[in-house]
Amino acid sequence: MEDRMVTGEWQQEDSAAELSLRPTTLNQYIGQQNVKENLRIFIQAAKMRDEALDHVLLYGPPGLGKTTMASIIANEMGVQFRSTSGPAIERSGDLAAILSSLEPGDVLFIDEVHRLPKSVEEILYPAMEDFFLDIVIGSGPSARSVQIDLPPFTLVGATTRAGLLTAPLRDRFGVMSRLEFYGIEALCDIVERTSDIFATTITHEAAIEVARRSRGTPRIANRLLKRIRDISQVRGEDEISLQTTEEALDMLQVDREGLDYIDHKLLTSIMDSFQGGPVGLDAIAATIGEEPQTIEDVYEPYLLQVGFIQRTPRGRVVTAKACRHFGRELKDE
Ligand SMILES: Nc1ncnc2c1ncn2[C@@H]1O[C@H](COP(=O)(O)OP(=O)(O)OP(=O)(O)O)[C@@H](O)[C@H]1O
Ligand SMILES: [Mg+2]
Repeated sequence: MEDRMVTGEWQQEDSAAELSLRPTTLNQYIGQQNVKENLRIFIQAAKMRDEALDHVLLYGPPGLGKTTMASIIANEMGVQFRSTSGPAIERSGDLAAILSSLEPGDVLFIDEVHRLPKSVEEILYPAMEDFFLDIVIGSGPSARSVQIDLPPFTLVGATTRAGLLTAPLRDRFGVMSRLEFYGIEALCDIVERTSDIFATTITHEAAIEVARRSRGTPRIANRLLKRIRDISQVRGEDEISLQTTEEALDMLQVDREGLDYIDHKLLTSIMDSFQGGPVGLDAIAATIGEEPQTIEDVYEPYLLQVGFIQRTPRGRVVTAKACRHFGRELKDE
């Protein structure tokens, strides 16, 4: 997949800025009111009881702030934050080593938790439920199982696809929080906050324009802002203007709804090759030369959210809103 300006997925160029842009407390974390309110109560209660916080599952599309929220949880609990990911833990011994090095109450963050190998996942069950490790030492007739007590800890799992978690793993999370795409106002606040941290100024109208074209995703908003700032600076502006913002975004080929050429290809291929649908995911994938999984996980969620496509039992259809966006005739309705 080529680099896209408007993918929520992490890209190399995000790395430098992301650490410094990460809010560190619940109060600094913009938006996601429901998730924050719930977590605030659970955190306060756990602290009052002097216990580890219940295990938390954070799920939702890429770039909405799952990793950020996980580190905030550790910070608010006043404990260490340890971070790893499903695919990084290859053997059960790797996980055992991490778990047995935790201090009481620590947060262990496992990103892409749906990608844990089965054998690793199985040793996680008793660890999450009763804080012990059940490991087999040796092999053949001399093999024996030993149990090791663990300190109480909080597992924070993140996934873009809660549906791929096995039921036994899902059931062991006491708190499940779904992060939603951000509204324009929240994104605008994020853009203004980021521009503060960058020590630049952006006019309010310009910030709103960035927010509008960021597909509900903070990571995209920050990435777009970085590019716009470069252009504005080269033009010698002392604050980022709406005009520069619009021109920069057009240059970056991000349209008024935050769609780029891949979205255009996807939507117009449904309109042109499949009369607007319904059409199956595999057929769309073959037509535009992308993996069905990528379409489903990365391209589609936002298009569904803003109502450009709909899922029906017989496949995807483009909506009247999408037709209007492309200036097409509506299919006979
Ligand atoms: N609520 C927020 N307020 C301010 N900034 C945010 C917020 N959420 C995310 N960000 C910013 O967006 C960037 C991406 O967030 P983060 O890495 O937490 O996303 P993620 O959901 O973990 O993505 P992925 O699915 O790729 O792991 C971070 O740099 C962070 O600064
Ligand atoms: Mg992350």
